[in-house]
Formats: sequence, structure tokens, C-alpha cells
Amino acid sequence: MTDRLHEKTVIVTGAGAGLGRSSAIRLSEEGAKVLCVDINADTARETAEHISSAGGKAAFCQADMSSETEIINMVKEANETFGGIHGLLANAGIAGTGAAHETSLEDWNNLLNISLTGKWLCAKHVLPHMMAQKSGNIIFQSSICALNGFPNLVAYTAAKGAVAAITRQMATDYANFNIRVNAIAPGTIETELVRETYKQRLDTAHSDISVEESLAQTASRYPLGRLGQEIDISNMAVFLFSEESSWMTGAVIPVDGGYTAK
Ligand SMILES: NC(=O)c1ccc[n+]([C@@H]2O[C@H](COP(=O)([O-])OP(=O)(O)OC[C@H]3O[C@@H](n4cnc5c(N)ncnc54)[C@H](O)[C@@H]3O)[C@@H](O)[C@H]2O)c1
Repeated sequence: MTDRLHEKTVIVTGAGAGLGRSSAIRLSEEGAKVLCVDINADTARETAEHISSAGGKAAFCQADMSSETEIINMVKEANETFGGIHGLLANAGIAGTGAAHETSLEDWNNLLNISLTGKWLCAKHVLPHMMAQKSGNIIFQSSICALNGFPNLVAYTAAKGAVAAITRQMATDYANFNIRVNAIAPGTIETELVRETYKQRLDTAHSDISVEESLAQTASRYPLGRLGQEIDISNMAVFLFSEESSWMTGAVIPVDGGYTAK
């Protein structure tokens, strides 16, 4: 364990489970002070308590990424609790399956609202603080869906592709303020979101295959022969928030066991 993020203050959204939870914990292990944010106050609190009991520094905040008011409160809370914001990991997102012809406008809007607009709003409201301090670091959680085509994921892919696009766009707007903006594009990582996506797909197809069998089939399509683990993504978040990546901005980085290299 090193101290690569000593005293850096970081907001992590979706910190109650999966990649957000593991990243919040991993960032704290490197010395960051973390505001753990989730729509689910209980799980956000649990992650913050886990960090505190391990000797790290964390607080929690309940916020729904579909509410600009709650996002504004989240940023205010981070400032008041930690006296500044160095980093934002805009990670929270939801699953949603469906091809273009079978996706309802309601489902499309709901997914984009949380998984795209919510990420932009988080950035919008932390940026004035970062611009004033002339430094900052934003990481968006995208997906390899932004890079390759995958069946039955039209709304999810729209959100992830747009997240990759605004990563590149925002990197150009804020480099003068010493603010870096990068995105992680994870392949399939074993989290609740993935299990839910697989369950939805199998139910829709009236398939007899179990979620476990289907995940094993997917793993066999990855050049490295396995699905990703949460730590694979949280290690990338540590690297991007650290000075080791100080010349990187506007990058959309696949962490995917070689899937997009095929
Ligand atoms: N797991 C993967 O394979 C994978 C691959 C590529 C990208 N991603 C992306 O990583 C991110 C996290 O995915 P995960 O697999 O950890 O998901 P997850 O479902 O395990 O966890 C998501 C967390 O976000 C929270 N959340 C959901 N809606 C919210 C809202 N409106 N406001 C605030 N919090 C909300 C949930 O309560 C949960 O704690 C998502 O953006 C997802 O698209 C995941």
C-alpha cells in the first residue's frame, strides 16, 4: 500500500455497490478522503463505515443522479465536509436491455437521465470549484459498449458512447485550468448490474440457461479468459487520480481483458 492520493478529496457516485464501492475503498486505501454517494443511503453509509473502520477517511451522502437539486447538495456537502474537491468519479449508472425497436421512450429517457445526464450534472457542479482552485480530476465510468457494438443494449450504449464523447470534449475545455477528464471503459465485471442485465436478457429470450452459465460463456470470449473483477477497475481509478497519469486527459481507456483488441 502506498499513499498516492494523500489527502485528496474525492466524490464517488454509486458508492453503495459494485465498482463505486470498490473504488471508494481502494481510493481511501491510497490516502484519499472519500464522499460515498448513492441513491441508497444505507449502502452509501455502509461503504463509508467500512472505510472508517479500516482507518480511512470517508463520509456519505444520499443523492439521486436524476435530480440536479440533489447533485448540487452533494457537491455542497463535499465542500463543507472536506474543504474542497480534488476529484470526481462519476460512476453511478443503471442497467437496461433492449434493441432499438423494442425500447420504450420512457426506458430510454430514464436510462439516459441517470447514466448520462447525471454524470454531466455532477461534472457541471464540481467544475466551478475545480476551476477556482486551478486543479481537478474527473473520471467518468463509460463502458466497452462505447467502443464496440453489443446486441440489445441501445439505450445503455447511447449513454456510454455519449459519456466517452463528453470526456474528450470536456478535456479540451478545462485543460487550461489544470483539470483532467478521462473515462474508464470496463468490459464485463462481475457486479449486481451485470447479473441484472444478464437476467433481463435471459428472461426476455425465455432461455433455460442460468445467469452463471451465461457469464461463463461470456468469460470464454475474453482473450484473457476471465471476466473482470471490481479491483481491475478501481486500480485504474487510483492511477487516473494519481500524479502517475498527469499527462493523460481526454482518454477513454478500455479495461477489458483484451476484448476490444480482438
Ligand atoms: N459491471 C460492469 O460490467 C460494467 C461494465 C461497464 C461499465 N459499467 C458501469 O459502471 C458503473 C457502475 O456499475 P456497477 O456494475 O458497479 O453497478 P451496480 O448496480 O453494482 O452499482 C451501481 C450503484 O449505483 C447506484 N445507483 C443507481 N442509480 C442511482 C441513482 N439514480 N443515483 C445514485 N446512485 C444510483 C446503485 O444504488 C448502486 O449502488 C455504471 O455506470 C455501469 O454502467 C459497469
